[in-house]
Amino acid sequence: MKKTLKIGLFGFGCVGKGLYDILQNNTENTGFEAQILKICVKDKSKKRKIDSSFFTFDKNEILDNSEINLVIELISDADEAYQIVKKALLSGKNVVTANKKMLALHLEELVKIQKETGTSLLYEAATCGSIPIVRTLAEYYDNELLYSVSGIFNGSSNYILSKIANENLTYNVALKQAQELGFAEADPALDVAGFDANYKLCLLAAQAYGIFVNPDEVLRIGINNLKKEDIDFAATYTNTKGQKDFKVKLVANISRIGKTEDNQLLLYVLPTFIDAENRLYNVENENNAVLVKAAFSDKQTFIGKGAGGHPTGSAVLSDISALRYEYQYEYRKTDGNKEKETLGKTPISSTKNALAEIYLRFPNDLSKKEILQNLDFKEVLTENENHIIGKTLLAELFEKRNFIEENKIFVALSGEVKVVKQDSKASAAYEAY
Ligand SMILES: NC(=O)c1ccc[n+]([C@@H]2O[C@H](COP(=O)([O-])OP(=O)(O)OC[C@H]3O[C@@H](n4cnc5c(N)ncnc54)[C@H](OP(=O)(O)O)[C@@H]3O)[C@@H](O)[C@H]2O)c1
Repeated sequence: MKKTLKIGLFGFGCVGKGLYDILQNNTENTGFEAQILKICVKDKSKKRKIDSSFFTFDKNEILDNSEINLVIELISDADEAYQIVKKALLSGKNVVTANKKMLALHLEELVKIQKETGTSLLYEAATCGSIPIVRTLAEYYDNELLYSVSGIFNGSSNYILSKIANENLTYNVALKQAQELGFAEADPALDVAGFDANYKLCLLAAQAYGIFVNPDEVLRIGINNLKKEDIDFAATYTNTKGQKDFKVKLVANISRIGKTEDNQLLLYVLPTFIDAENRLYNVENENNAVLVKAAFSDKQTFIGKGAGGHPTGSAVLSDISALRYEYQYEYRKTDGNKEKETLGKTPISSTKNALAEIYLRFPNDLSKKEILQNLDFKEVLTENENHIIGKTLLAELFEKRNFIEENKIFVALSGEVKVVKQDSKASAAYEAY
């Protein structure tokens, strides 16, 4: 039997319009009726492509309408989105949202409300656009030991990196293109400084490992200080493992340290030198990729469009469709099962165990001496007047992140990450993806 979903839609921008198009053009195949009753937007002066009677500027016209049983939240204001989603769940409405920032900052509370109210909060569109990774992690890897979930989670940054490397565009021109094409967030810092990838990482951590991570606790360095010379350098560099001919990619990573015997996870978002053997090497432009590594299924790769109205709208559609049968994320790993017990109470404090080879390029107004005075390198491999390659603990980068940002220093992982055991000097090679 077809179930009619009565929708209150918040936002009619890139994703909102994309979803609207999809719902208009896909009615034959959905197997259910989804009817948009009202759309809430902000700007009264904007011309809209559909009749003005659909629109409201008052959120309560949707939230207080008892006929509406589904709220789809697709606005660009995370604080307002939080108020909308919370009130919708508390009033018994199901919610589909694409707002990763809002979710990453409030997920634990919203999941609690979902449980208490028996509603459903779905967010496939919030991570990696069209790639169906949230439901996959929630359902498919339920019983298998997950070693890592990592990849390219931000379409705009990847687009910019591709355009600089492959078409010789400048950083600013590439960023402008990403904005014009609707890939970039309203505030581009969310993309290029790594915030967006970090928020998505936190959402996937909840599904993959049952933990609610505060995004501020994750080591996050973006590509906002990158220059063309960094990409050129990577292309000619050979690291200590003999890997060479690198591309630079912004990689988000969550992985177990030391497989089963260790209670810790390593989380970071870092520009990374990627060689041709790596599954991320050929992921270009606005595409995203998620690499999953697990005990028995081994390595799996999901690649797809990570941004844009239709790809993101397709993930929203998939969530709407799942609500036909009252689908909910169950957070099975959060509820005191074996996964949680294995990880222990402080699972993400592990950057202090991770010794990484990094490339660090500094601007002309800083000297090498100042860098070495401020950042503790355990070993310097090569150095010249504008860059240093050496080994440092990722915890050191986390601690000095303000120094790095304020001084416009570019940092990338350029080689191996090793796990330094706390109780001995021995270290083990660490391979996330
Ligand atoms: N773009 C992508 O590829 C993509 C991919 C994945 C996830 N997302 C997420 O999807 C959401 C929407 O992104 P977008 O790219 O569609 O943004 P967008 O094109 O900038 O559109 C934002 C929409 O939100 C509305 N809005 C902003 N503040 C509002 C408020 N306080 N009350 C009501 N409406 C408000 C705007 O209204 P007006 O029309 O009146 O200005 C506009 O319609 C964001 O959370 C974003 O992170 C986007």
